[in-house]
Amino acid sequence: MESYWNRKTFCLVTGASRGIGRCIAQEFAKKVGPGSVFLLLARSLSGLESCREEILRHRNSDIFVSVAGVDLAQPNGAEYQVLIKSAMEQGGRTMAEFDHVMIVQNAASLGIMSGLQVAEMDDLKEIQTYYAFNLDSFIILNSSFLKVFPESSTQCRSVVHISSDGALEPFKTWGLYCAAKAARDMLLKSLALESGVHALNWAPGCVNTDIYEEAVKYTADPDLARFFEESRKAGKVLSCEQTVTKLMKVLASKQFIKGEHVGYHEIPDVSNLWN
Ligand SMILES: NC(=O)c1ccc[n+]([C@@H]2O[C@H](COP(=O)([O-])OP(=O)(O)OC[C@H]3O[C@@H](n4cnc5c(N)ncnc54)[C@H](OP(=O)(O)O)[C@@H]3O)[C@@H](O)[C@H]2O)c1
Repeated sequence: MESYWNRKTFCLVTGASRGIGRCIAQEFAKKVGPGSVFLLLARSLSGLESCREEILRHRNSDIFVSVAGVDLAQPNGAEYQVLIKSAMEQGGRTMAEFDHVMIVQNAASLGIMSGLQVAEMDDLKEIQTYYAFNLDSFIILNSSFLKVFPESSTQCRSVVHISSDGALEPFKTWGLYCAAKAARDMLLKSLALESGVHALNWAPGCVNTDIYEEAVKYTADPDLARFFEESRKAGKVLSCEQTVTKLMKVLASKQFIKGEHVGYHEIPDVSNLWN
């Protein structure tokens, strides 16, 4: 079986300015082959620049890292295709050179600030704004990426979605978030069924990032808010490195490529998932 890592890879990561996305960019960059190209997207250019610097500290410039400050709440397929093509051009590579192309759809927001239950949701603009970022841009970015890299007999294509337990299980006052994650999961399952794309929905567990902080502060349901606070106090919240290391092992195993939803806690802490 051909190795998942160590190949000349084009890798796009959304939300790479901080948190899990930043860690994904940094850790994946250590595992890909020379000549690889990374494209990192988020709104904060300074966050992306510092992620790039960190990547290049480990790679002696044998990979190219392009960054672009993009607000994914304003989906634009034409712009996404230009960004992908120009990252390749700036890196001096052509599409056909890559053995593996992958997109990591990591960026998302909670949409829990209003603290609403589903029966109270009546602000159309707020709903549309939430889904423009958390669903529409997910769809448009995927299709833009797959248009730039159409099916080929020599190139593996992967789509990784950083999902959530909320895709499978409802959380009170988190209706918009859970629905977006469930829809994103299903889109990847459909994609995997329709094409030869390797697709994985990865639920990272509770991870110590800004989103987790928001969950603790702003979750309106008191039981859920208490759960987040107590998990943190009990030391049950993971580091980004913990979840990303396990994600990489799951990807290397290539056991989960048909759009499966796989959670951090379902995978044992073993080393034999590497190939
Ligand atoms: N942390 C957890 O416990 C946990 C649990 C389950 C699932 N997840 C999922 O893991 C993923 C990463 O979350 P995280 O915990 O790493 O959160 P985070 O630290 O808040 O990072 C979110 C990332 O998304 C980017 N982003 C936010 N709004 C954006 C926009 N409009 N356009 C472009 N980029 C935008 C942010 O960058 P800018 O602000 O620079 O744009 C940032 O890089 C999310 O999909 C989240 O749902 C996290």
